[in-house]
Amino acid sequence: MATMAAQATQAADPALPRGFRSAEQGWPHLERIPHPPRRLPVIGDALGSNVRTPVQDSMRIAARLGPIFRRKGFGKEIVFVWGADLAAEMADETRFAKHVGLGVANLRPMAGDGLFTAYNHEPNWQLAHDILAPGFSREAMAGYHALMLDVAGRLTDAWDASEAAGRAVDVPGDMTKLTLETIARTGFGYDFGSFERDFEREGPHPFVSAMVGALSFAQRRNVVPPLLTPVLLRGAQRRNAAHRAYLDRAVDEVIATRREAGGGPGDLLDRMLEVAHPETGERLAPENIRRQVITFLVAGHETTSGALSFALHHLAQDRAVLTRAQEEVDRVWGAVEVPAYEQVAKLRYVRRVLDEALRLWPTAPAYAREAVADTTLGGAHPMRRGAWALVLTAMLHRDPAAWGPHPEVFDPDRFTPQAVRARPAHVFKPFGTGARACIGRQFALHEALLTLGLLLRRYDIEPEPGYRLQISERLTLMPRGLRLRLTRRSPATG
Ligand code: HEM
Repeated sequence: MATMAAQATQAADPALPRGFRSAEQGWPHLERIPHPPRRLPVIGDALGSNVRTPVQDSMRIAARLGPIFRRKGFGKEIVFVWGADLAAEMADETRFAKHVGLGVANLRPMAGDGLFTAYNHEPNWQLAHDILAPGFSREAMAGYHALMLDVAGRLTDAWDASEAAGRAVDVPGDMTKLTLETIARTGFGYDFGSFERDFEREGPHPFVSAMVGALSFAQRRNVVPPLLTPVLLRGAQRRNAAHRAYLDRAVDEVIATRREAGGGPGDLLDRMLEVAHPETGERLAPENIRRQVITFLVAGHETTSGALSFALHHLAQDRAVLTRAQEEVDRVWGAVEVPAYEQVAKLRYVRRVLDEALRLWPTAPAYAREAVADTTLGGAHPMRRGAWALVLTAMLHRDPAAWGPHPEVFDPDRFTPQAVRARPAHVFKPFGTGARACIGRQFALHEALLTLGLLLRRYDIEPEPGYRLQISERLTLMPRGLRLRLTRRSPATG
């Protein structure tokens, strides 16, 4: 907390201007950092890059240019870091803190000073963090377990129907329904009825459409030069305003329903509405609560649904891994109809599968860090206070220095306790780092393990013939068009 306070004081008086800080403003020796060849005036390194795949483009460039590199487009220059040593330095909270920039900053109009998008110096970050953290304690998790099981039951009902009809299932679509319903029910006592919708006729829930629309808009703002925004994004800006208005209305309805009911089961929404800060007695303001609800509905489901989808993809691709995971679930859960809370974390091998999926495809593929004081990165790259870089998690997780000579190979045994102990710290960061790391980590892990356990116990899964993994990028990553064929396993197993 003291560190955060120190950072807050410094960040409140930044050495560099607010708004987008291009790298040349904060890195006095930028020439030491490589950039792609054939840099052109104005468009910089944008030639050959695809606005729909900025992360995958950066990964390709990273593989060519090494552990630190820069990319420039339309006057904006960004430093990327992915070498294990450099990323470990940037995890040092005495020297670096979260940087709210790029995609995260573009979410500010939607999520304001909610936990994810708050600047380090904004008092609402610490206030909301302290009020909401107990909502993610072990005890709180145990309280969400029954609701999570209930939502997972809706998923298996839907998958049973697909299996009986011989239909392949749409994995990212169904995982998104599951994770949205889970955070909405456990956090806010709200039911979007996603599984009950006739998807073919009605499409996704309007909340999901509005959210996806607002997220895609935020991402496009990263890649469209500001000068061209009014021309290129005029229609998109109008639609974005409509999406945001819808999200605000939906959230106000959730809050109004709770207030009318005179309180709920002590979930996140009750905390936001009723709990005062344990030391200062301060409460969250109504506008901030609105922002927090949107934050949790968004942050609480996109990433987990991607993680589940990638894990299912890899399980379906690798029969030996699938069989081992199924055997573990059968052994650990036995014949019990519904697993108890404590039985979920005992799925150690399934957890390794999930970790390995998050290694190769960290669904939040990068996070930004800024220098809290003038410093030198890697002994060679001076940074002024406020200068920042993007840590490219998807490449950090492929650095051969940490992961060996074949980082592309999917191998859950990279996460045996011995293997983890043998690696340096700070090389696995799917949930970010430091004080601003993911508050929902345990929530996501419990939800994902519970769901994978239930699915593995109930079905054999197979990929559709000829499926090749393609990654779609919004703010998060997702396996595009992943469909799986199901066969019910013995009815005695669930
Ligand atoms: C596999 C699932 C998830 C992944 C990979 C993930 C990843 C991340 C990452 C990388 C950050 C740090 C971002 C940064 O430094 O800018 C973050 C922050 C955050 N996440 Fe998650 N997340 C997941 C699930 C969840 C869930 C389930 C919730 C809520 C129930 C959640 C809520 C948040 C919030 C509120 C923050 C901001 C924390 C703060 O700054 O104080 N996340 N997440």
